[in-house]
Amino acid sequence: MKIINPYRPGAGLMPGVLAGREELIESATEYFESIKNGIPIQSIAFSGYRGVGKTVLLNRLQEIAEDHDISGYHIEIERTSSFIAKLSDCCKKFIRKNSALEKAKNVMGAALDALKSLEISYSPESSDFKLSVQERALYKTSDLSQGLQDLFCSIGEIAKKKKAAICFFIDEFQYISQEEMDAFISALHRANQLSLPIMAVCAGTPEMIKMLYKEKTYVERLFVFPKLEMLNETEVAIAIAEPGKKVGLSFTDGALKEIYNITEGYPYFVQQYGQILCNQISTDRNITEAFAKSILEKYYDELDKNFYMVRFNDRGALEKECLIAMAQADNLPCNISFIAKITGKTTKQIAPTLSRLKNKGLISFENVNEIDYTVPGFSDYIKRNQSWLIK
Ligand SMILES: Nc1ncnc2c1ncn2[C@@H]1O[C@H](COP(=O)(O)OP(=O)(O)OP(=O)(O)O)[C@@H](O)[C@H]1O
Ligand SMILES: [Mg+2]
Repeated sequence: MKIINPYRPGAGLMPGVLAGREELIESATEYFESIKNGIPIQSIAFSGYRGVGKTVLLNRLQEIAEDHDISGYHIEIERTSSFIAKLSDCCKKFIRKNSALEKAKNVMGAALDALKSLEISYSPESSDFKLSVQERALYKTSDLSQGLQDLFCSIGEIAKKKKAAICFFIDEFQYISQEEMDAFISALHRANQLSLPIMAVCAGTPEMIKMLYKEKTYVERLFVFPKLEMLNETEVAIAIAEPGKKVGLSFTDGALKEIYNITEGYPYFVQQYGQILCNQISTDRNITEAFAKSILEKYYDELDKNFYMVRFNDRGALEKECLIAMAQADNLPCNISFIAKITGKTTKQIAPTLSRLKNKGLISFENVNEIDYTVPGFSDYIKRNQSWLIK
């Protein structure tokens, strides 16, 4: 009989056990407790490569914040839509939620004015304020930073009066535009200066950290920057064995070690491996090292088909060549002059292609002129397809 699969490979799917994130969860919880008690606190910007578990951690932190009675708002930044519009929608929800209860009408009025001004200026089509042309002209501001600061200050005042707190949970933060980042950071900073109970937890690829540091000198004091790492051997063992236990699986130490070696502690791979293992089990529910090894081919087949191929196949010809050339480097990150040499181009010629690959989240610039894949095992995937290698 087939067993129920307790593993959850997929974007943003909460795993059976969120392994190895206890320390980060503990310190974020302290931040939530602090802001809830009216003590201003830094925001959190955690970074990590694709599939390392940013979204699931962000969602878990939002649950914890809400358990602490903090108003949590989830925003996923997309390149195609305005972050500020989504942010002002969240502020609108907060104002609505509190409008009936708020006695100090002037604070509420200021918040609504700030919201109107921001909406009319930056998303006039979506605005649901019914205003005449003259009124619109009156509210319109040309300074996004000022508009958002006013909004944060006024919703912060409401929160403070109500002994409440607000936290924005922002995913894919690296996709924010420069102008929006500037406005957001300034508004958060102003709220922090005024000891207003507003904070943010932002998740993004390592690119996000570089963008934030470029932004403002005070970013360092406004945020803490934890880095999400791969899981270590013990954490992989927990991520595999604990959900397995619930469906009657047990693992020898050798099997768990082997699974760590195979998945390299990459959370998405751990879930994917677990799922394949469940599909391959016959009657014996005790997983040995030999069994763990025996499903390796199936595991790579699955990863190649569902993980690497989708990233590789959609690329243009020169993009593919660059990805292949990277696999031919002795070490990663590798210098872009190496990629130029292998592809027979100049560094200038490949620069726009590398920039496209970066924007699509396939590679990252590590140091000046050095690049790496954003997911582990990509170079092995290329090497499994020997015929692609450039002679
Ligand atoms: N701490 C963890 N322990 C076990 N599994 C995890 C852990 N974190 C994430 N996973 C699993 O890894 C996979 C990827 O998680 P998630 O989508 O959160 O990654 P991500 O960093 O947001 O990826 P992306 O950058 O592509 O958005 C999911 O299948 C999830 O269940
Ligand atoms: Mg994600």
